[in-house]
Amino acid sequence: MSAPTSLAHASGTFLIGGDLPVHRLGYGTMRLVGDGAWGEPADPLEACRVLRRAVELGVTLIDTADAYGPEIAERLIAEALYPYPPGLVIATKGGITRQGPAKTEFVGRAGYLIQCVEMSLRRLKLDRIDLYQLHRIDPRTPLEESLGALKRMQEQGKIRHIGLSEVTPAEIEEAGKIVKVVSVQNRYSLADRRHEETLAYCERQGIGFLPWYPIAGGKLLKPEQPSAQTLAQIAARHRATVAQLSLAWLLQRSPVMLPIPGTSKVAHLEENVAAAGLKLDKEEWAELEKAAQ
Ligand SMILES: NC(=O)c1ccc[n+]([C@@H]2O[C@H](COP(=O)([O-])OP(=O)(O)OC[C@H]3O[C@@H](n4cnc5c(N)ncnc54)[C@H](OP(=O)(O)O)[C@@H]3O)[C@@H](O)[C@H]2O)c1
Repeated sequence: MSAPTSLAHASGTFLIGGDLPVHRLGYGTMRLVGDGAWGEPADPLEACRVLRRAVELGVTLIDTADAYGPEIAERLIAEALYPYPPGLVIATKGGITRQGPAKTEFVGRAGYLIQCVEMSLRRLKLDRIDLYQLHRIDPRTPLEESLGALKRMQEQGKIRHIGLSEVTPAEIEEAGKIVKVVSVQNRYSLADRRHEETLAYCERQGIGFLPWYPIAGGKLLKPEQPSAQTLAQIAARHRATVAQLSLAWLLQRSPVMLPIPGTSKVAHLEENVAAAGLKLDKEEWAELEKAAQ
């Protein structure tokens, strides 16, 4: 394993939708707000510092959603970073409503999603959202209605690219009949491989894959989890942390992989971004795969 560098550009560049370059290691903002993605940050000044430090470290892909807070993560991004530096891509989402900490309901009605896009534009102080992701497919609303609404916003120049979240290959195919799908955001990590098929589909189609819970929501780092000892040993051998190993594994897993690790702390952000420079050799890769089984 080579020595870590501190800049996100070491993770390489991916062209979202074939024309929107981002450094592959990004940052996710869900952890900036209160527990259960509900309410104000425990430490608002640190939240602001995290966002600014991410940009300083070369992060060019920031993932957010109107459901984080709700509304609070988008507001914090604008407060900390507006006017935005050139090349910064803010990817937001709509389609999940929140009734309290960790309580959600999916809503994909056209009128609602159009309001979501308009309100995200207003909070983020943008004229156009570079990547707008349908946070969930609403089982009670025809997909044509939900994506038709986003397509209209795209035609009006309010959205540049459209992505999906928590979807199967069949759902991406269906969506692809209505809009061009450029990204998918599914739960995926070294410890959680339920979406291998979707990842393989994205790879074949050149669709960006944003794994959420990239360090298993922190569970991968807990000493009581089954592969903890092996992961810690491999990490220690290379003066890296388990969080860094799991991010390096993701980056090497696929060229379409765009991890968006979340944190509320500058120290963890710096550690996570440093993983962009970690390279695993074949033996280390095999050891990690075995340990995570
Ligand atoms: N599409 C969806 O449905 C969906 C769902 C969930 C999340 N997301 C997106 O995906 C992003 C990533 O997911 P996530 O934030 O839930 O999961 P994650 O990145 O796997 O884990 C975040 C958790 O790990 C801790 N952590 C982060 N870096 C660490 C480090 N270096 N050392 C020790 N602990 C560390 C964080 O605590 P600290 O704050 O203490 O660092 C936090 O509790 C979110 O921020 C959000 O943008 C999308």
